[in-house]
Amino acid sequence: MSRITYVNGRYLPQREATVHVEDRGYQFSDGVYEVCEVRGAHIIDQRRHLARLKRSLAELEITMPMTETALAIVMRECVRRNRVRDGLVYLQITRGVARRDHAFPPPGTAPSIVVTARTLNVAGNERIAAEGLAVITVPDNRWERVDIKSISLLPNVLAKQAARERGAKEAWFVDRGGHVTEGSSSNAWIVTMGGTVVTRPADNGILRGITRSVLLDVIKAQGLKLEERPFTVEEAYGAREAFLTSASQIVMPVVRIDDRPVGNGAPGSVATALRAEFHRHADWA
Ligand code: PDD
Repeated sequence: MSRITYVNGRYLPQREATVHVEDRGYQFSDGVYEVCEVRGAHIIDQRRHLARLKRSLAELEITMPMTETALAIVMRECVRRNRVRDGLVYLQITRGVARRDHAFPPPGTAPSIVVTARTLNVAGNERIAAEGLAVITVPDNRWERVDIKSISLLPNVLAKQAARERGAKEAWFVDRGGHVTEGSSSNAWIVTMGGTVVTRPADNGILRGITRSVLLDVIKAQGLKLEERPFTVEEAYGAREAFLTSASQIVMPVVRIDDRPVGNGAPGSVATALRAEFHRHADWA
């Protein structure tokens, strides 16, 4: 079955789904994106993802190309046409097509929109969750507006590749003060030896992850000790547990940081329990 992509008003076989060479996303990374989990053919936390999308667009003064309701229908249709039960739906909006000029194109330039959906290897993800994964740390060399879910991801790409070359699955960015900000495509968490769950506050230094927001509700509902504060790399090395969150990985235990085992080197009980609990608190569209 050929994959179907929605591009600027049409559902097309992926090989025919193309964008213009002067699309500002292609030339300037002038756009934003969202990734939602698809589980049992339902889109998870779609409303919160669309709210974050609207915020990202507003910060960049890109107009929403269609209503939220229409966008939700397109996402659902992409999931359906690609027969995705468990996977991801990806959506990207750019400032549109215009003759190359750094400043914004004339008002009325139509934004471009692309939506794709694909299946994820759920069993493979569960195997990784059972073993835990390794992360490395790298200097955070990104711009100051990482709260905008922009498609300008070059530092994230380089960090993820560095992780891969060192046998790890994720890279944690570290700010100049030695504090972990977040992963290249996930939020970062630790559990202290005293059992407190710690994650950085969602200021401009990190993306306000939707999985992170929902997980904060889970943690509060379970009565776990929680601190939203920055933590250092040293604190992470000495933590009882570490884990990361994202729409594609939900809650994923981290068992090594820079080649040092975290805790006893196996997935922690808090991360494992939160992973099991997560979908009871998420919205299913
Ligand atoms: N990444 N931080 C960064 C830099 C991210 O790119 C992501 C998501 C997150 C977690 O956000 P959420 O819980 O809303 O997925 C945090 C997506 C999955 C991606 O780029 O594929």
